[in-house]
Amino acid sequence: MIDIDKKTFDSLIDTAISAREKSYCPYSDFAVGAALLCSDGDIFTGANIESSSYTPTICAERVAFSSAVHAGKNSFKAIAVVGGKAAESVSAYTPPCGVCRQFMTEFCSADFPVILFDGKEPKVLTLGELLPESFTKINLF
Ligand code: THU
Repeated sequence: MIDIDKKTFDSLIDTAISAREKSYCPYSDFAVGAALLCSDGDIFTGANIESSSYTPTICAERVAFSSAVHAGKNSFKAIAVVGGKAAESVSAYTPPCGVCRQFMTEFCSADFPVILFDGKEPKVLTLGELLPESFTKINLF
């Protein structure tokens, strides 16, 4: 169960949609936006930033998490992720890539809600559903 009110839930999706506008995606032409809600109510955004050598490309989710962590945040409530062809509005779900799932696992537990939006109906999945049996810091000790 997601424990954020409807206004916050909806504004998280809207903020992710706005964040898409900052995407730098000349190679894929696929713009992704993310809005990360911290436990204290602050929201950090991200968009994908691509590289001509492709591999250094960073996803919207990791931009949002990196900004938040660098600002001193370490507790998170939910993330909204939206994507689609750069010049078009969102019309299909964009689930986080495997690297982002692992990255989020560093900071969030299995019940962390990942909100997806296809322009019509939000879909909420937990990080545990997206990355079951994940490798985490507890496996190191
Ligand atoms: N992308 C994201 O920003 N987040 C994801 O989780 C999936 C993929 C970006 C990376 C690349 O710039 C573009 O979408 C196409 O893969």
